Amino acid sequence: MKLKILITGGAGFIGSSVYDSMRKKYDIYILDNFIPFYDIKQKLKNLEISSSILKKDRVQNIFNCDIRDYFSMKRIFREVKPHAVIHCAAMAGVQQSFEHQKEYFSVNVEGTLNVFSAAVENNVKKTLFLSSSSVYGEGRRAPFKESYSMNPISPYGMTKAQSELMAAFFSSQMNLDILVLRLFTLYGPRQRPDLLLHKLYLNHMKNIKSVIYKNTSRDYTFIDDGVQGIQKGFEFLLDTKGIRTFNIGSSNPVKTEDVAIEVRRRLPSFSFSLEERKRGDMARTFADISRAKSAFSYQPRMDFAQGVKRFDSWFNSFYKS
Ligand SMILES: NC(=O)c1ccc[n+]([C@@H]2O[C@H](COP(=O)([O-])OP(=O)(O)OC[C@H]3O[C@@H](n4cnc5c(N)ncnc54)[C@H](O)[C@@H]3O)[C@@H](O)[C@H]2O)c1
Repeated sequence: MKLKILITGGAGFIGSSVYDSMRKKYDIYILDNFIPFYDIKQKLKNLEISSSILKKDRVQNIFNCDIRDYFSMKRIFREVKPHAVIHCAAMAGVQQSFEHQKEYFSVNVEGTLNVFSAAVENNVKKTLFLSSSSVYGEGRRAPFKESYSMNPISPYGMTKAQSELMAAFFSSQMNLDILVLRLFTLYGPRQRPDLLLHKLYLNHMKNIKSVIYKNTSRDYTFIDDGVQGIQKGFEFLLDTKGIRTFNIGSSNPVKTEDVAIEVRRRLPSFSFSLEERKRGDMARTFADISRAKSAFSYQPRMDFAQGVKRFDSWFNSFYKS
């Protein structure tokens, strides 16, 4: 019998990519509230479903549910009886978190509390939680190690740091086995439109000049490498007790200006200006991935220029259709 997994946020960029990669091996259920934080057409396309889901509670293995609605969550947990949860649902994005602090805290902190509580109440022992490089914040020697203390500088980073503290509590006091994966800027097909590469392509399509922040760099990680880390991490979690935390990145930072130059190689009329970075934006991210390499043989493979090429093909086919 296949193990049953419930993926929260399974309609999004990462959740739907994890679903596609793991659906042959596992019996997967998706829980998502299809929030129009960005165009829901992209989420419907990720799952190849029609908008009828928006008027219903459930279509096939997909539940339309808000993780803040504990009553409905408990009903879904009771109905599905998952062996494990992969918790991807969140309000993501650093800059938007300054404008929508309350919503970020209510979804990312209270919602995550509900996911952990529903797991405990329904005797689901294993939960994989997607955290973020944003928990590291400023003043850290690169590459960032999991042993560093958390020092977030944005509301989004704070919600992830608080969720990690809750994860530690649920593991030590409520007997939940939890794997925390700190993801470093994922990019590629299905990427969120607020993330850099997608944003630059959209600006170009709309003839808007892009803004690039000076002296910044990110440890861009191709979606397939991120999914590899999540799947291998999940299999490691099945044999692990307690809580473990791992970075999932490429360990190969790219300067933001070089991202713009790579885009211009593909879109020759792409134009941009340089500005100082905004509050909440870390100057750089850089993952030390030795822990994940040695625990579950995580090995990122994608070269950045090749990854941009894969994004480029997805962008053209998505916006043409
Ligand atoms: N994309 C990255 O580079 C990155 C980096 C670090 C961490 N993460 C984390 O990975 C996870 C997935 O990110 P993503 O980039 O795929 O974002 P996404 O916005 O594409 O996916 C999140 C999904 O969660 C759903 N959701 C939001 N609020 C919900 C709620 N209240 N109830 C139920 N579902 C809800 C959304 O509808 C969406 O489908 C998030 O937890 C994010 O913080 C992402």
